[in-house]
Amino acid sequence: MRAAVCHEHGPPDTVRVEELPSPPLADGQVRVQVAAAAVNFPDVLIVANAYQIKVPVPFVPGSEFAGVVTEVAGAVDGVTVGDRVSGTGIVGAFAEEVAVAGASVTRIPDSVDERNAAAFGVAHRTAFHVLRSVARIEPGDELIVLGAGGGVGLATVQLGVLLGANVTAVASSREKLDVAASYGAANLVDHRAGDLRQALRECLPDGADAVVDPVGGNLAEPALRALRWGGRFVSVGFASGEIPRIPLNLVLLKGVQVLGFEMLGFVTHAPDELARNEAELLDLLATGRIVPHIGAAFPLDDVASALRYVADGRAIGKVVIDVSTS
Ligand SMILES: NC(=O)c1ccc[n+]([C@@H]2O[C@H](COP(=O)([O-])OP(=O)(O)OC[C@H]3O[C@@H](n4cnc5c(N)ncnc54)[C@H](OP(=O)(O)O)[C@@H]3O)[C@@H](O)[C@H]2O)c1
Repeated sequence: MRAAVCHEHGPPDTVRVEELPSPPLADGQVRVQVAAAAVNFPDVLIVANAYQIKVPVPFVPGSEFAGVVTEVAGAVDGVTVGDRVSGTGIVGAFAEEVAVAGASVTRIPDSVDERNAAAFGVAHRTAFHVLRSVARIEPGDELIVLGAGGGVGLATVQLGVLLGANVTAVASSREKLDVAASYGAANLVDHRAGDLRQALRECLPDGADAVVDPVGGNLAEPALRALRWGGRFVSVGFASGEIPRIPLNLVLLKGVQVLGFEMLGFVTHAPDELARNEAELLDLLATGRIVPHIGAAFPLDDVASALRYVADGRAIGKVVIDVSTS
């Protein structure tokens, strides 16, 4: 099979596509012929060895895929050859085949194609768990989304609007903000156009109920300052490369909550919330009420370019790898 391989940690162009043997299949695993995979910012960090989880080289990067089951080893409940499934993991998805635990894959609803199924995994799940269980968004809440043109950010805009929030989208270009507006963002702020604190004060004179922050850096503090008393600031990631330091006097004086979300911790520690949210989210996907925004697609041969595109902050919504057409 053809696969993208990282032989050496570093920038995206260290990843090369080559011929590898098909992955061996252990008892309880299924083999999936991958049709599409999607790129997430953590894929860039894992290749650079800058993610919280370290993966030794050589490895096949890629954390989400969708395709067709071609082989089942041993007893696997509810999955048979020919099923269309999607899955997420840490690595392995940028390849023509993956071998994964049968219990870890999800049947793709008939109404959804493989591209959208692949693009739906990490970003929308992160966004929905954050909105439902951490930011605890209620209809009518004022929600500020940083990185609103990116994968997690745009998914947060889409799902925040769907949950009834009034969304203020913050991003670095008119193009990204126009896409956020097309999904219902009510206020649009280009943080490169001027002072973010002032712009948020003008949009939200009474303050916001929640901030979702996948960016960090110098956007975090002005966004936190835009919260009203009792507001929730949720840290989701640091795509800017800079972990912000928040002065605690702001937290004290404004009576706000600073919260964090990390998928593995949530999966481990909040199984009931996880199951409820995942069921609700799958229903939103199956009924077409949420469709991921695919801003760019690359063939498998161009995985390095796709990773570079995401690393440079150019992605709008999701970036997909078309594996079956490569
Ligand atoms: N906590 C979790 O479980 C979890 C799950 C998934 C992802 N994440 C994290 O969430 C963050 C966003 O992931 P994503 O997949 O949404 O990424 P993405 O699609 O690349 O979006 C990231 C956004 O960050 C902004 N940005 C600012 N400086 C940047 C820089 N130097 N390089 C790249 N982007 C920059 C950009 O917005 P502007 O328009 O403002 O420049 C960009 O749209 C990452 O840190 C990722 O690790 C966390």
